[in-house]
Amino acid sequence: MYRSTSSIKTKSINRRNNLTQSLNTKKLEILNPNITKNLDFNFQQRNYAQPIGQIRRTTDDCQVVVVTSGKGGVGKTTTAASLALGLADKGYKTCAIDFDIGLRNLDLHLGCERRVVYDFVNVIQKECKLHQAAIKDKQNAHLFLLAASTVRDKSVLTEEGVGEVIDQLRKEFDYVVCDSPAGIENGAFQAMYFADQAVICTNPEISSVRDSDRMIGIIASKSDRARKNLDVQQHLLITRYNPKRVAQEDMLNVNSIEEMLGIPLVGVVPECQSVLTSTNLGRPVIAEDSSNIAGKAYRDFVDRFLGEDKPLRFLEDQQESWWKRLFSRN
Ligand SMILES: Nc1ncnc2c1ncn2[C@@H]1O[C@H](COP(=O)(O)OP(=O)(O)O)[C@@H](O)[C@H]1O
Ligand SMILES: [Mg+2]
Repeated sequence: MYRSTSSIKTKSINRRNNLTQSLNTKKLEILNPNITKNLDFNFQQRNYAQPIGQIRRTTDDCQVVVVTSGKGGVGKTTTAASLALGLADKGYKTCAIDFDIGLRNLDLHLGCERRVVYDFVNVIQKECKLHQAAIKDKQNAHLFLLAASTVRDKSVLTEEGVGEVIDQLRKEFDYVVCDSPAGIENGAFQAMYFADQAVICTNPEISSVRDSDRMIGIIASKSDRARKNLDVQQHLLITRYNPKRVAQEDMLNVNSIEEMLGIPLVGVVPECQSVLTSTNLGRPVIAEDSSNIAGKAYRDFVDRFLGEDKPLRFLEDQQESWWKRLFSRN
């Protein structure tokens, strides 16, 4: 029988929440056998945002990075989650911000949707302090999230309000990763405005390349740094790359996209079904084990983003390249 994606997603989220709740219950039982009598109260307590910890920063200079594209559905949020976790795994104190006001997705990708109490808009509007809204990741102490509000619209993002929060974050973090909404309206504009660097997510199709080109132009001419006559370092990340369809000339190849956009390539992430499974489990795909090709491609991307020189992988259909390798041995 047909099952919709949202029902699968809801089921896996419920399964995960049940698991988390039962694990929490077990931990609490070990600490104090009487405590589980008032379970709901205990679970609520755990869901509060945690204060920003006293982690030593690795650099004095904070970099604000926007993950953007123009087009929707290209993999921006998937990339922002993996980039933020990848940087945190390298020891950089990193805060991810969801600029997609009204929708909110990044919390799901990072597996902390149940722990959002205050959000980015509450901080902008001074309804809470930054440390009350920043949710600390349970697995990685260097990773924090400022979630988007689901009850406001993008007009609440003002240059002044966003600027004040970014200034506060610059004092505390090594990296701030801004997950941009689609389009070129206010939300996307504010997400890129304070960026020092940009990751332009582009799918190998002409409409995506055209929208990315527009966004590259906007960043280069209208961002805060552009207004101060400074460069914003822009990186091209090709996402959802399908080598089979590229070989059939249904999709653009890497060289054509690079030529059209004229910014340095920082990675190619193949189209891979496991990306959706990771999202459903609230785990950025970069955290998947070594058999996951999208996870490997995201790890390569973070290494290149940090300046490492690494060859590109996964530009060929995996099945085809397996057969090729087999025959080249004989
Ligand atoms: N490399 C990939 N392979 C397969 N599916 C992907 C990949 N990257 C993203 N997706 C899927 O594409 C959809 C949109 O991704 P998302 O990151 O939310 O895009 P955006 O933030 O640009 O709208 C999601 O269903 C996601 O699972
Ligand atoms: Mg998104």
